Amino acid sequence: MSRNLSMIRDVDQHRDSEVRIGCWLHNKRSSGKIQFLQLRDGSGFIQAVVVKSDVPEEVWESAGKLTQESSLYVTGNVREDTRSKSGYELTVTGIEIIQVSSDYPITPKEHGVDYLMDHRHLWIRSPRQRAILVIRAQIIRAIQQFFDERGFHLVDPPILTPSSCEGTTNLFHTKYFDEDAFLTQSGQLYMEAAAMALGRVYSFGPTFRAEKSKTRRHLIEFWMIEPEMAFITHEENLEVQEQFVSHIIQSVLDNCGKELEVLERDTSKLKNIQAPFPRITYDEAISFLQKNGHEIEWGEDFGAPHETAIAENYDKPVFITHYPTEIKAFYMKPDPNRPEVVLCADMIAPEGYGEIIGGSQRIDDPVLMEERFTEHELSKEAYQWYLDLRKYGTVPHSGFGLGLERTVAWICGLDHVRETIPFPRLLYRLYP
Ligand code: 4AD
Ligand code: MG
Repeated sequence: MSRNLSMIRDVDQHRDSEVRIGCWLHNKRSSGKIQFLQLRDGSGFIQAVVVKSDVPEEVWESAGKLTQESSLYVTGNVREDTRSKSGYELTVTGIEIIQVSSDYPITPKEHGVDYLMDHRHLWIRSPRQRAILVIRAQIIRAIQQFFDERGFHLVDPPILTPSSCEGTTNLFHTKYFDEDAFLTQSGQLYMEAAAMALGRVYSFGPTFRAEKSKTRRHLIEFWMIEPEMAFITHEENLEVQEQFVSHIIQSVLDNCGKELEVLERDTSKLKNIQAPFPRITYDEAISFLQKNGHEIEWGEDFGAPHETAIAENYDKPVFITHYPTEIKAFYMKPDPNRPEVVLCADMIAPEGYGEIIGGSQRIDDPVLMEERFTEHELSKEAYQWYLDLRKYGTVPHSGFGLGLERTVAWICGLDHVRETIPFPRLLYRLYP
């Protein structure tokens, strides 16, 4: 690092000695002969104190020139200070201004959401937004750790695809030279091929849904983690999922205490998230909803209010299993005892965050798969490669997809998924 720069997060290793930090001014307070600078460097926040009588005149004057988001190198002595949030304070000895920033558009006063979204490239500097992005990074770390430690291999499915995975209604279309192509909605079909090659695999990448829905839970571009496992059946698939989600939660609790505090997250609700998770069937969910005054019939899909009503009965995520075959994707395996339902599950997060995982056992029988293709009017030509998987050594297999942004929203306790991703793509928002 250039000229021995320290990071704010590491100041505890430099107690009572001098450090030099590259940083921005977050906020400033002055009381005549002392200036209090709130500094941030991305790794953390620290208060720096400039005492007029203790510093050369030019240092005092430089401090006076600093405005919100001015950039600088600060030199100072690290002092332990139990009153400060970080536990440390900096006694300033030198200031080199890189740039005095003027008219920073995001002031400490309240701004509307649209205004903040238009300034998302700057908004991410705020303590709250920083905390969310740090937790997002930790969740990704925990995800990779979980699968890497359990014999899974990371596999990257393509982003540009010739056909759909989750139905044709919300595909983004583009030209691929003279052919038509679509942005991927899910890498699952390719992950099934990869599972037949590598056994246990997972992907982590962006997926796209041209959904004209403007809800708190929908993004147009979102990131999905999609594990796929050869020789794993429905019940085992659920066990992997509940262990996976418990691992993510524990990892965030262990590593992001400060960030959860910035967000004022009630962590007692998270501490409880330990496998096993409760399971109910679609049938049970329907009769519960009907008893509680919801107008819903067997065969209909759940909306957000239904999911929330069901989730309210539990303080952990709940699996809803065995949905009607009719309303689920073509590749899901029917229950051998009851072919009108499939061996699938959606995991519904507590506290009203809705579905965070969709998964299932897949059809492994080549004859049934061909039948499904006919019923769903899918082109056997376009999917020949996928049908091959059932022809050359087919095996029972299962997998699932976790939506990263909904998971971040839940863990951080946010009202809306728009704050869970650095630059959200929403209906009517492609800027910045
Ligand atoms: O339930 P979905 O559509 O499942 C699949 O795509 C399967 N092929 C996954 C698999 O089995 N490999 O999507 C999976 C998850 C949802 O549970 C939700 O968390 C998230 O992806 N998701 C969205 N997140 C944000 N915005 C959207 N528009 C989303 N659509 C789905
Ligand atoms: Mg789903």
